[in-house]
Amino acid sequence: MKFKYFTLFIFSIFAYQVAFSGTERGREIYSQICVTCHGPNLDGGIGPNLIDSYWKNGDSQDAVYRSIAKGITGTEMIAYELVYPEKDLRSVTEFILDKQEGNRDTLRSSYSRDYFQGKRLHPDLFDSIESISQKKLPENFYYVERMFDGVLRGQSILHIKSPGKYRFNISGKGRTSIWVNGKEMHYSNDSKPKDTHISKEFELPPGTHDLEILHEEPTSHSMRFYARLQKLNGEHWMLTGKSLEGSVPKVVRSSEKAKVIRKWISGLPPRTLLLLLPNQVMLAYDSSTGKIVKGWESAFLNQTPSLDSRSQKQSEVKGKELPDIAKTILKGEHFNLLHYETIGDTVTIASLVDGKPKNFSISPEGKNSYKLTF
Ligand code: HEC
Repeated sequence: MKFKYFTLFIFSIFAYQVAFSGTERGREIYSQICVTCHGPNLDGGIGPNLIDSYWKNGDSQDAVYRSIAKGITGTEMIAYELVYPEKDLRSVTEFILDKQEGNRDTLRSSYSRDYFQGKRLHPDLFDSIESISQKKLPENFYYVERMFDGVLRGQSILHIKSPGKYRFNISGKGRTSIWVNGKEMHYSNDSKPKDTHISKEFELPPGTHDLEILHEEPTSHSMRFYARLQKLNGEHWMLTGKSLEGSVPKVVRSSEKAKVIRKWISGLPPRTLLLLLPNQVMLAYDSSTGKIVKGWESAFLNQTPSLDSRSQKQSEVKGKELPDIAKTILKGEHFNLLHYETIGDTVTIASLVDGKPKNFSISPEGKNSYKLTF
């Protein structure tokens, strides 16, 4: 009996999206209804920011549409399918996606390896056989099972707003080939050094482009494949997330410097900052209400690569929950987090409360407490 292991793959592109026509109606609806909670610049208010890289309910076209149409039970986000026809909701979804960089529709396919052995990876090769899976995964993940042996193809649309010269940076084991609009832009294999920089620069005009990543794993190991697209003298965009299942979550522990962590923790509001102080006290500060909502002692964080890669998978706080820690730090109606910084053992958080700047600092005190200064 033969066992086969397959690579599951999914990737994301953080490139600028081109403006779509058909977003006018979306803009109209947004500015009439959604603006009250998500803000005139889509950067949040009562509702979360819709342009940052934090998507609690998924960032694919389908996921965003679902959030809007079905609402989010138990929150102020109602099901807008009760208010608008589907066409309008599609338009508002487009409008939101158009406001950020990113790529949404991803696809995973995996194939048995035997067929590809000794052949150059090429899209046509994939067309000639049936893939094992065409299922969509939680978006933006390069997802691998621990023991596998397979070949994958990821297809996606690349949205380029800012035209010019681009280049791919690839790192990871295995053979990788990247195709843009049916042209091979990159090829690397196992024997090459770990970080392969594609030497060829290429022009990308504004608009949408077909992107394909073909990848093969040589051995059964915990894989980390990584590719990014770089605009020359400009920004970098990740094309993939990290191996999720195949890698051990990172543990974040306290050190002599305070740390601020932004991760999605079950049961905490989406805009929560986790403040980890040198005395191992961790505080969950909800930047959208100005409150400390929870706290732990002897705390550390089991961090999945969630926020950057927009995983649906949660990180976990470990520690002993502190009783009676909840506290209102800032009073007001409208909160905007401006920035935060750590200096030594202290975290300073700057916010706008009802339009007025408010700062406070938090530092460790004793074994299981903290000191607040304004
Ligand atoms: C009364 C306030 C309110 C209004 C009006 C509102 N939202 Fe929301 N929205 C929220 C809240 C609160 C959440 C976060 C729910 C949660 O905790 O997951 C949310 C979540 C979302 C999400 C999911 C974000 C994520 O991170 O996954 C999307 C997308 C969204 N809203 C779009 C819209 C659109 C489009 C409209 C207008 C048609 C709209 N919202 C109107 C309050 C509002």
